[in-house]
Amino acid sequence: MLVNSREMLMDAKMKKYAIPQFNINNLEWAKNILEKCQEMNLPVILGVSEGALKYMGGPNTVVSMVKGLIKDLNITIPVCLHLDHGQSFEMCKKVIDAGFTSVMIDASKYPIEQNLEITKQVVDYAHQFNVTVESEVGHIGGTEDNITATSNNATLEDCLEISKSGIDSLAPALGSVHGLYKGDPNLDFETMQKINEALPIPLVLHGGTGIPEADIKRAISCGISKININTELQIAWHDGVVEFIKNSPEQYDPRKVIGGGKANMLKAIEDKNKMFFGL
Ligand code: 13P
Repeated sequence: MLVNSREMLMDAKMKKYAIPQFNINNLEWAKNILEKCQEMNLPVILGVSEGALKYMGGPNTVVSMVKGLIKDLNITIPVCLHLDHGQSFEMCKKVIDAGFTSVMIDASKYPIEQNLEITKQVVDYAHQFNVTVESEVGHIGGTEDNITATSNNATLEDCLEISKSGIDSLAPALGSVHGLYKGDPNLDFETMQKINEALPIPLVLHGGTGIPEADIKRAISCGISKININTELQIAWHDGVVEFIKNSPEQYDPRKVIGGGKANMLKAIEDKNKMFFGL
């Protein structure tokens, strides 16, 4: 069932666990994630970056693919199809019109007044179609979609300001980064807790790859209800494929080669689900 993220995130916030957002890159990613989450009977958010959207052909292709998989694989868990780091109102509108059930508008590169204005424009449009909206304040650093950014932590004031837009969830940059960490992650739990006390909406932790379990648990206790994972699945898949090619260099069937990373991916998805849901 394709749904927006409202109910699943509010339940996670209330009961103190986190819904994973696993980013997808292709058919195999979507299929593996859906199969594993169905097997575990857990809701899931499929994240699609602008780069992945372009790679897969565009929003109509992605919506058709995900809807098709839900039907063909008899997926009965709640599935949310979410745009990750939408850079403009136009991009958010495009995916909403195609059938995405949730969007992130990331106007965090602009001053807060402009971020608020763009975010509000997206919220006003999205809510007409029952599509949920996440936004970002401060700026999450690291590398995603081959773009590298410098971190800039969120302030409580900016979080209060952006909440005036009517957003459904908020990703405050508090020290996590996209991609691999250089050294240990250094999350600002104090500010996280203050934001949690000041705002009723679920908080989102980007850059979930490489954050140790103790920090994940603490973040959840400070109001984090959604955690994004991209790089970790990519690495798990890559390691499996490298091993497969080493062992079967003569194999040229793409289904077998790509499938060489499947077992590793399924294991990584299961591990993250257990950690985030506290199973
Ligand atoms: P990682 O690639 O670090 O897991 O981050 C994913 C993410 O935050 C997507 O928005």
